[in-house]
Amino acid sequence: MTSREKSHAPVGDRGAVYSPAKDTLLLIDAVQEYAGERVLEIGVGSGAVIVELAARFGSAVGVDVDPAAVKMAKDRVASRGGVDFVCGDSARSFREGVFDLVVFNPPYLPSSGVEDKAVDGGRGGVEVSEAWFQDASRCLQRDGRIVFLVSSLSDAEDMLRYVKGLGFETRLLKQVRFFFEELSAVEARRCLSVASI
Ligand SMILES: C[S@@+](CC[C@H](N)C(=O)[O-])C[C@H]1O[C@@H](n2cnc3c(N)ncnc32)[C@H](O)[C@@H]1O
Repeated sequence: MTSREKSHAPVGDRGAVYSPAKDTLLLIDAVQEYAGERVLEIGVGSGAVIVELAARFGSAVGVDVDPAAVKMAKDRVASRGGVDFVCGDSARSFREGVFDLVVFNPPYLPSSGVEDKAVDGGRGGVEVSEAWFQDASRCLQRDGRIVFLVSSLSDAEDMLRYVKGLGFETRLLKQVRFFFEELSAVEARRCLSVASI
């Protein structure tokens, strides 16, 4: 048993919006301590995470490449409001240095290509995560934070090396173990030299 199965959608329903699962709950748990001005969630899915964050941030944005996910997330927050949604690829459409927090629960199952965008993470399961992290770092404020999930089913070491290579330091926020998998919520922030503060 893992937090996420390849067949997360019922048979015959492949390509369905990702249903909140144990990984979603871990991310919700990990972001409880954050509050601020502007938050972005990449890969918003059904909206379960961004709706929690919206209550503690001045403005909240959720982006997803899947129009059906954007619609479902919009419907989820309809009664509360306070979240803007964008249908698009990762954080590419945002200006530099805008958000104080960016969060994501990426597709992280190792795959030769990306057939199911909800779960296929590409080579080593971290190709998509690395691209998202780079996009997130571009639209992050200088002293902002990126919170993301990483799974032992993927090449987690490679992901953490990549993050450090971009000049970030990491902190483990939460970790859960399943029968075949360990799932971690990690916070990354830029290593700022005294001269740059
Ligand atoms: C594992 S699901 C996470 C959904 C939700 N955040 C949660 O925790 O339940 C990953 C989400 O990323 C979306 N996604 C995949 N590729 C994307 C891309 N290039 N840009 C934006 N969203 C993408 C998928 O459609 C899916 O909704």
